[in-house]
Amino acid sequence: MVGFLKNGEKMAYIEWSDDFSVNVKEIDSQHRVLIDMINMLYEAFIAEKGKDVHKKVIDGMIDYARIHFETERKYMKQFNFPGYEEHNKEHEIFTQKAMELQKQFNAAGFILSSNILNFLKDWLKNHILGTDKKYSNHFNDNGLY
Ligand SMILES: [Fe+2]
Repeated sequence: MVGFLKNGEKMAYIEWSDDFSVNVKEIDSQHRVLIDMINMLYEAFIAEKGKDVHKKVIDGMIDYARIHFETERKYMKQFNFPGYEEHNKEHEIFTQKAMELQKQFNAAGFILSSNILNFLKDWLKNHILGTDKKYSNHFNDNGLY
């Protein structure tokens, strides 16, 4: 099923595939959490129940940032990954966005679906499929799979 956001952008349920994999089991399973959040938003959007899951997803983003980014930081440090600083800067942007969404939600009692969805979809495309892929070989070369 394909839905449309208010800005007319098309979106669909995202199925995990090997294209998303960074070839490290622990990190892949954490990345699946983000895809689950996008799908949860999508399903709620289709059912016109977006508001009910927004708080859940925003809280989920904050947990995700805390737990998952810590995992990546740990391995980047452990294996002296050269792109460490640059990578962490992107994580900072995610964390700030999650906190900003939480603030907006608490103040207004709601948030636009597109505000969260567009951010998470861009994150998936640019960070998970772009930035995260860059450490994949480095981690594998150090024996982490
Ligand atoms: Fe990352």
